[in-house]
Amino acid sequence: MRYFPVFIDLKNKTIAVIGSGEQAAQKIRLLLKTTAHIRLISKEPNDELKALIDKGAISWETDKFNEDHISDCQLVYAASKPEINERVMLLANQLGIPVNVVDEPDMCSFITPAIVDRDPIVIAIGTEGAAPVMARKIKSKLETELPTRLGALAFMAGTLRNRVAKNLSEPRRRAFWESFFSGKLADLFYRGEKKKLKAEIDRILDETITEKKTTGHVTLVGAGPGPADLLTFRALRNLQAADVIVYDRLIDPSVLECCRRDAKRLYVGKEPNNHSVRQEEINDLLLEEARKGLHVVRLKSGDPLVFGRAGEELDFMRKHGITIDVVPGVTAATACAAEVGDTLTYRDKVRAITFLTGHSMRGATPYDWANIALPGTVIALYMAVKMAPKIQENLLAVGVNEATPVRIVEKGCSPEMRSFETTLANLSHDLQRHKVINPAMIYIILERDTSIDEESSDSEQAQTNKVES
Ligand SMILES: C[S@@+](CC[C@H](N)C(=O)[O-])C[C@H]1O[C@@H](n2cnc3c(N)ncnc32)[C@H](O)[C@@H]1O
Repeated sequence: MRYFPVFIDLKNKTIAVIGSGEQAAQKIRLLLKTTAHIRLISKEPNDELKALIDKGAISWETDKFNEDHISDCQLVYAASKPEINERVMLLANQLGIPVNVVDEPDMCSFITPAIVDRDPIVIAIGTEGAAPVMARKIKSKLETELPTRLGALAFMAGTLRNRVAKNLSEPRRRAFWESFFSGKLADLFYRGEKKKLKAEIDRILDETITEKKTTGHVTLVGAGPGPADLLTFRALRNLQAADVIVYDRLIDPSVLECCRRDAKRLYVGKEPNNHSVRQEEINDLLLEEARKGLHVVRLKSGDPLVFGRAGEELDFMRKHGITIDVVPGVTAATACAAEVGDTLTYRDKVRAITFLTGHSMRGATPYDWANIALPGTVIALYMAVKMAPKIQENLLAVGVNEATPVRIVEKGCSPEMRSFETTLANLSHDLQRHKVINPAMIYIILERDTSIDEESSDSEQAQTNKVES
């Protein structure tokens, strides 16, 4: 190991940064995470640096670089022209001050690692300059895996340390910290259940408090429409904390891989036209597991609040006194459009998105197509492959142009994804021709005619000209 990692106390210390541009700004962005005083030595700071000076976040020296700029400093960064960088390095070395010359490893007496900041937990990743890309990859992996509030959890641990040491002996003490950092207590903390967390800590630490029966909790988690990298950090944290996972048909195996290894997994997949597990049975199952005092994750494809029957599960749990929260996910309408490089809204041409389900058209009150198919709208149709001929017929009947563009995305975000464009007139024919099956999104793109705007703005301009003349 050529470079030895250490953490330097920067309280009441000064760091000098010499330079005016992006490289100096990058270093200062990082240094601003510390409590050190930052001194910028620069003739013409860029806009970002000027803004920091104006805010009083850093101090600024404009005169030519000299010894006084760095003699009282703990660390020095040089991000200027090569000749100035060299002078900074030589002077810092003479004064015995650690110096970093940006992008010049041979001129550095220290290097800045990639940092994962969950203050007071700070992880530094270094590759001795050999593989900075690898350092960034490791950083991104840790950033996704470590909850953003890990630092706050660590602070709280500090406040409990003496009490735990006094009240618990081994092995209960170790079990407490296990639960605190990655078990039930951590789970309550991240969910923001302050009262329950306090009660649970008191219950464990203060044996005079009589044990209360703990109640469970249900979280509706959006898994996104495909692979695990479309999960949110919050979804991931819940998957790693839950005792029970109740999941749907469209959940990708890579998402299930993210669950706690010892979590119980219950499949309640509903096939189209073959509702193998009825919604009432799912509700009962969630309740039964939560009543055991467990954290139950109800994992749904896409976003749980979009055609996911979340409403019934929210009502049912609340009616039975079980707390329930929702973790949003990436819905199929946006994910599939992104995957094929399309936009949903387009400044003046498309200003509204309507999410519709083809499923609830069967036997339900008919949609008011004339009011739905408004110019300037994208209609994103879920579960609509089967009902597409009916939808096509209804849209044509209310006067929508036959040539209206339609985009189909089948099995979006998966290796088997297929996508094609057609027109409203050819919609059912092309769905059959391509043998499209669920899951698929159908987008009816009703662009506004912007030439009307141009004409009216021309006539407004003409009016103005008339008035002015
Ligand atoms: C029961 S709904 C659930 C929607 C989900 N809650 C969401 O927000 O995406 C299922 C429908 O979502 C759409 N869908 C889900 N995943 C999809 C995917 N990977 N590709 C295309 N469509 C998808 C299909 O229209 C499918 O029939």
